[in-house]
Amino acid sequence: MPKCIWLSALAALGLAGLAALMSASLAAAAQYETGGAVRNPRTSPADIAAGAKTFRSHCASCHGLKGDGGRGPNLASGVFFHGSSDVDLLNNISDGIAGTEMPGLFYSPDRVWQIVAFIRSLSAGKQMKLSADTSHGAELFTSKGCNQCHRIRGEGSRLGPDLSEIGRTRSTEHLRAALVDPDADVRQRYWVVSFKGAASAREEGFLMNEDSYTVQFMDMNERLHSLTKAGLTDYKVEKSSKMPSYKDSLTPSEIEHLVAYLSSLRPPGGVP
Ligand code: HEC
Ligand code: HEC
Repeated sequence: MPKCIWLSALAALGLAGLAALMSASLAAAAQYETGGAVRNPRTSPADIAAGAKTFRSHCASCHGLKGDGGRGPNLASGVFFHGSSDVDLLNNISDGIAGTEMPGLFYSPDRVWQIVAFIRSLSAGKQMKLSADTSHGAELFTSKGCNQCHRIRGEGSRLGPDLSEIGRTRSTEHLRAALVDPDADVRQRYWVVSFKGAASAREEGFLMNEDSYTVQFMDMNERLHSLTKAGLTDYKVEKSSKMPSYKDSLTPSEIEHLVAYLSSLRPPGGVP
């Protein structure tokens, strides 16, 4: 909720104005809490130009003159960590993002809508990214079988990393790369050890630990094992990912939906 402007307005208006202001702000809140259905009322070329002006003076120092990022994130890609609907943008700009450097900008909703229109104009040519949709991404996460290896808030498998808060630690670029080129950057915890054991069948698992004599690993059914290396033949450690590349099996827009969804996975309340 805007603060400074309200306080100075209150001082000016006195108590009589207080009731009017409160009901006005309640009405505004009710109007904007209906989620993605609310559309920006200020999208004319004049609005966009006014939004650009405010952006240059109040936002560019952190988000870059073209909105392409700096100390704050890129706002020109059409993909937003903290929600991509018009109302999400309005709220994030008006209230700021708690626990981050993103300040609350205490303007009238109309002026913030103009900034939203300007931000939208930055990615207007990027239809594919603009339509990135976190709820569609969430559906794809299940329908494409990501949950067979990954766990989100207690649901899914533990084979791959838990992704419950992946949006906090990874950029959208990193997430996109993880989907199309998983082998590029595999943490040691996910290196795959394989060997022939006593039964001479080939076995494999994630390397948890090894020394000269023993190896600890987690098999693909999430069971932990500890074996002495002496009994194993054809022992190998591969640094490639167990995760398949989705470069060809997902469309570019499906990848964007998934990236938008993963980016939205952050600790509740937005505090890091
Ligand atoms: C002091 C630096 C700073 C200023 C000034 C600033 N921002 Fe931000 N902004 C940030 C940071 C940092 C984040 C990222 C917060 C996070 O997720 O950790 C952010 C996040 C955002 C987001 C959410 C992005 C997303 O991916 O969901 C929007 C939208 C945004 N800013 C718009 C604006 C606008 C519009 C202005 C000017 C009216 C502005 N910011 C001014 C630093 C700033
Ligand atoms: C066969 C198991 C498997 C499947 C299926 C799978 N992953 Fe993964 N994924 C992994 C493993 C193992 C890693 C860790 C190694 C690596 O970084 O590639 C990983 C890594 C990741 C990372 C990087 C995590 C980080 O900490 O940077 C992301 C993001 C990710 N997967 C998302 C997905 C999505 C989205 C899908 C579905 C489209 C998917 N995965 C399907 C096994 C899988």
